[in-house]
Amino acid sequence: MTKQTKQQTKIKSGIEGLDQLTYGGLPSGKSYLISGEPGTGKTILSLQFILEGLKNNEKTIYISIDEKPEHVINDANALGWDLQHYLQNETLNIIDITNYFGSSKDKEGNTIDSKIIVSKITDFIKSINPTRIVIDPIAPLILSDNSIPDVIEYIRSLIFEVESIKNCTTLLTSYIPVGSNKVSFFGIEEFASSGIIHLKLHPHNNKRIRTISIRKMRGTQIDLSEYSFEILPNRGIVLRQAL
Ligand SMILES: Nc1ncnc2c1ncn2[C@@H]1O[C@H](COP(=O)(O)OP(=O)(O)OP(=O)(O)O)[C@@H](O)[C@H]1O
Ligand SMILES: [Mg+2]
Repeated sequence: MTKQTKQQTKIKSGIEGLDQLTYGGLPSGKSYLISGEPGTGKTILSLQFILEGLKNNEKTIYISIDEKPEHVINDANALGWDLQHYLQNETLNIIDITNYFGSSKDKEGNTIDSKIIVSKITDFIKSINPTRIVIDPIAPLILSDNSIPDVIEYIRSLIFEVESIKNCTTLLTSYIPVGSNKVSFFGIEEFASSGIIHLKLHPHNNKRIRTISIRKMRGTQIDLSEYSFEILPNRGIVLRQAL
């Protein structure tokens, strides 16, 4: 008798050329870190991931931390993506987190506990029951006066909570300081998440090219090569050749 192996369900990333690198898409139900220095394409990649779900009538949540929702909508418009229809039929929910956490202190002047942040986010997510979530980016949710154990607890519990939502795949973007060798802001996110997609601006013949590579992806074979990519109108990030 042949032994049956359980195939991992994979979903389309929405990024042209990326799914070949993971042999058929992102393993579903997990959370993935999209890391890169400023301007490397984290937000555009995240929008493409959300749009792929929207095309299939999936419910999606885009939690915008640094940018107001209208800026996210304008960024998408500039690339030729009109989000209005999806906002109206509520398959796309763009959340401005600053409405929840405008300051690191509550009304009584106490530092807001990371557990409260995670529980507010997860309560909201569960009320929508989405199949795709983006948190862009994850780091500023951690307030500067939170202690290191609190930061670790926040990241681990946030990732645990989003991965426990059935059939929901999450992208967490992580800002990396310019010139640093780090993979994520706190150095914790990469261990807690199920995969890492790394975006770079690479020096190449006196100019810089955009590159993308997969650093890890639990549960699937990956192509570890670094690929150049372009950002094109209507298509967004499009992978080209391996370096
Ligand atoms: N409409 C567009 N057409 C072509 N290229 C664009 C367009 N909009 C943005 N870009 C390019 O894409 C780059 C990446 O943008 P994106 O906002 O995704 O970066 P990011 O990694 O999210 O940056 P940050 O860390 O500042 O949030 C921009 O710096 C710009 O060069
Ligand atoms: Mg961004």
